[in-house]
Amino acid sequence: MKLICVSNENEMSIETSRLIASLVRIKPNAILGLPTGSTPLGTYSELIRMFIEENLDFSKIRAFNVDEYIGLSGYHPQSYRMFMQKHFLDHINISPDNTFIPDGMTDDIDRECREYDERLESFGFADLQLLGIGPNGHIAFNEPGDQFIAHTHCATLTASTIEANSRFFDSRDQMPSRAITIGMRAIMSSKRLVLIASGRAKADAIAKTCFGPVTPQMPGSIIQLHPNATVIVDEAALSATGLFGDDD
Ligand code: PGA
Repeated sequence: MKLICVSNENEMSIETSRLIASLVRIKPNAILGLPTGSTPLGTYSELIRMFIEENLDFSKIRAFNVDEYIGLSGYHPQSYRMFMQKHFLDHINISPDNTFIPDGMTDDIDRECREYDERLESFGFADLQLLGIGPNGHIAFNEPGDQFIAHTHCATLTASTIEANSRFFDSRDQMPSRAITIGMRAIMSSKRLVLIASGRAKADAIAKTCFGPVTPQMPGSIIQLHPNATVIVDEAALSATGLFGDDD
């Protein structure tokens, strides 16, 4: 695992966007695995800037998202489909046919999960899988539990995740309690994995993910076993590792 420490969130976004842009230039039909959340917003902005100012071409790129809330249609303002359109996909020249996000309104969750896995497998999984991490260590919506779950599945969100994400909803009651998420097989089958985090709220999760035991209680820790994982974090997110002496 390669650990890149930068001084702040903006540098994290610049570094991450450069990695993605290099791949897009070298392999114009690459498969990108993409997350939502606050963490990748700066990366997406920077990639949009590169599209506008530097002709970064997404026309043959295929992008799949890692998760979607169950019960929200793609037109709901808090759905992850809407998030991706608003913050990234609507602003680049990617073909809508090449963007994939689980259907949160499916009438058959098992079938939706199975078909999403089959599609990912048919792509050969991601050339680059970008991930954020939750304060509880979840990656995508693989929540802490007794085992790592391999396949795309329906996750029941933990209280910690509901607490962290309900800030985007008018009230906590409106936040869905379940989501469809890719599983560890798709994550670990990616050719390159890039996990990003900034700020002290992620410090404990980053310390355990990078330096703790590999355990499903801290789902991010599985990336220690990935053959080509890069973690890009700012100093605040590394502050619980002891790498900066006395935790400041
Ligand atoms: P955040 O979420 O980027 O909004 O902090 C990350 C995650 O929960 O995976």
